[in-house]
Amino acid sequence: MNCVQIELGDRSYEMQIGCCILKEMLCDVQGRAMFVVDDNVMPLLGDTLSVDDERSLMTMFASETNKMMGSVEKIWDAMLDAGHDRATTLVAVGGGIVGDVGGFAAATFMRGVPLIQVPTTLLAMVDASIGGKTGVNTTRTRSDGSEILGKNLAGAFWQPKKVIADVQMLQSLDARQLRCGLAECVKHAMLGNPALLAFIEANAESILDCELKVMEELVFRSASIKAKVVSRDEREGGERALLNLGHTFAHAMEPMPALGLLHGEAVSIGLVAAANCSEALGLVRDGFVDRTREVLSKLGLPVRMQTAIPTTECITMMQLDKKNRDGKMRLVLPEGDCGAVITEDVDLETISLALLAVGAC
Ligand SMILES: NC(=O)c1ccc[n+]([C@@H]2O[C@H](COP(=O)([O-])OP(=O)(O)OC[C@H]3O[C@@H](n4cnc5c(N)ncnc54)[C@H](O)[C@@H]3O)[C@@H](O)[C@H]2O)c1
Repeated sequence: MNCVQIELGDRSYEMQIGCCILKEMLCDVQGRAMFVVDDNVMPLLGDTLSVDDERSLMTMFASETNKMMGSVEKIWDAMLDAGHDRATTLVAVGGGIVGDVGGFAAATFMRGVPLIQVPTTLLAMVDASIGGKTGVNTTRTRSDGSEILGKNLAGAFWQPKKVIADVQMLQSLDARQLRCGLAECVKHAMLGNPALLAFIEANAESILDCELKVMEELVFRSASIKAKVVSRDEREGGERALLNLGHTFAHAMEPMPALGLLHGEAVSIGLVAAANCSEALGLVRDGFVDRTREVLSKLGLPVRMQTAIPTTECITMMQLDKKNRDGKMRLVLPEGDCGAVITEDVDLETISLALLAVGAC
């Protein structure tokens, strides 16, 4: 088993990474526990969870439209029905959706109860379960009366007591979801870990076959990068924003029904667009875009839009990004061999060209 420390003073915790470790690692849950489990994960668990009362186990359908306050309220209700109190530990078992919703319920039930994150997707293992961001989507009504999802617009920072990543869980994950997690691993590597990028390139086949030893190493190396960033900047006052590399482009493409992209797929195209901006601005050496494209393609990730969306439409969406300040678009772009920079100084023409390079029109 490998361990990653998230150093946050009296809120520090450990992430345990291994194969078939879940049952053993859950043994030391202090006091009573409330389990919130992803619908699709429940049948995989067998006798792994020891639940003292069936009301202390609830399942949740993982979808963005179900990642809402209503789901948090259902968890509060279930906890009250089962007689839970502030000494209860909430254990969230699932992908990023269950982790975010379960985490927010833990942050708010009786003003906060202990939380254990048990991520079961690659994305949740290397990203969502680390760093204490929890939250839900909101429904927003546009001026024409139509509704859109306001992604993660309500939430709280609530650090777990520990994270248990059992890579055995990844074997049932569908290939598309696995690739989505890989986009975040590539992003972490691009943020300053050339050795991780080389590891991914050298082991692409074993990774796509979900070989457990390789997955354990991949999760360990990738999670370590996120852990370091979070340890230095818990509340995203500075460096943590670098984790949004490529995400301003991704957040614009992800909600477009014509593209049909999952988050990780949008991140993959977003990384190529960001690399294009950097190359145009001379922030990276020539050939950087090609290398980025090659690694992502090797992992079966998309590197351009399948339907050409007008650049103006993409830019309008990018202007809604939460990272923007005072109407200025803030981009996180690759810099140097393996590094990134946060900038507000990219002109719209450079952004348009980067979008054209990934298939916009
Ligand atoms: N809190 C954070 O810091 C953070 C960071 C990144 C993403 N997120 C959030 O995470 C969410 C995306 O998470 P995700 O990619 O894990 O997706 P997800 O939670 O939607 O899970 C993807 C699918 O895989 C299924 N699934 C989960 N584990 C499985 C397993 N072991 N075997 C088979 N199927 C399994 C789920 O039921 C779901 O259908 C988004 O809502 C995003 O906003 C949060």
